[in-house]
Amino acid sequence: MARSDPRDDVLVLAHAFSRPEVQDFADVVGDSLELVLAACASDCPFLVVAGVHFLAETIAILVPDRVVVHPEPLAQCAMAARLTVAGIEKARARYPGVPIVTLVNSPAAAKAVSDICCTSANAISVVESLGVSRILFAPDRNLAAYIATQTGVEVIPVPALGCCPMHQALSPDDISNLLALHPRAELMVHPATAPAVQALAGFIGSVPALIRRVHMTDATTAIVGTDTAVLSRMRRLAPHQILVPASHLMSCPDMRMTTLPSVRDALRTREPVVRVDPSIATKARRAIERMLAVTGWNLASGPEFDSAGEKVVGKMPA
Ligand code: 13P
Repeated sequence: MARSDPRDDVLVLAHAFSRPEVQDFADVVGDSLELVLAACASDCPFLVVAGVHFLAETIAILVPDRVVVHPEPLAQCAMAARLTVAGIEKARARYPGVPIVTLVNSPAAAKAVSDICCTSANAISVVESLGVSRILFAPDRNLAAYIATQTGVEVIPVPALGCCPMHQALSPDDISNLLALHPRAELMVHPATAPAVQALAGFIGSVPALIRRVHMTDATTAIVGTDTAVLSRMRRLAPHQILVPASHLMSCPDMRMTTLPSVRDALRTREPVVRVDPSIATKARRAIERMLAVTGWNLASGPEFDSAGEKVVGKMPA
């Protein structure tokens, strides 16, 4: 029987780096952690994930009783693709007994051989929860350096040069040029940017933290160093702010692969479905669940709306 509304039994989740029109169409918009939590909190049997593969795969691992549809299976993550199980095993052999913390921005097989996962939003609390003086961290060397500055923990990046190409491409020169034009602006950047860029920033934070900061800063102009797709959402939430992209080149090509027509096709056909080898999924799930337990986010409370009425997310930590 035909469904009366193709969205009756489906939740559309869009990463904050998706095209603005895809974000507008989605039921939930957020960073990786927010989308994972919203998927867990929802009871929809179908989940359409507008984002890159690792995100759809992570959600499929966490909710194996649901059908997870990824409209653009070729939308991968260049940083995740460079992380291999062999690379992790080599690092483990070199640093025996040192725990490995792996971003959700990674293949399931890498998560399966990791101790715990994290995202850019909860990396500090996850690392601090381990109570150790040294960790291996995959696959973003910039985030690794940021964690080291915030925690005092020695953070060894795996692989040594892994990074998000879009965030890495932002240079100190880009910033200096913009600060010359906007001398009173506050520079706020994602921790996946290079340390030399972070050193110039007044604020460093994950996407939700950057969005909150735009609300809170006293500066009337903010230079924002993350994917430009986040700025359109910020503009709606903080219309009084002058928001300047740190670089117009900050646009993840894989995130932009998902278009409104491809989401609509996925809603109609419920394809392509994400499938994960069950033996890998079981082990990967352990590392992801350990992350969720550490952050103490309330999986039962479901998606909520923020103070501006914007569709977002699961629960923020108290
Ligand atoms: P977060 O959503 O955890 O900030 O990750 C950003 C990213 O690069 C997604 O591909």
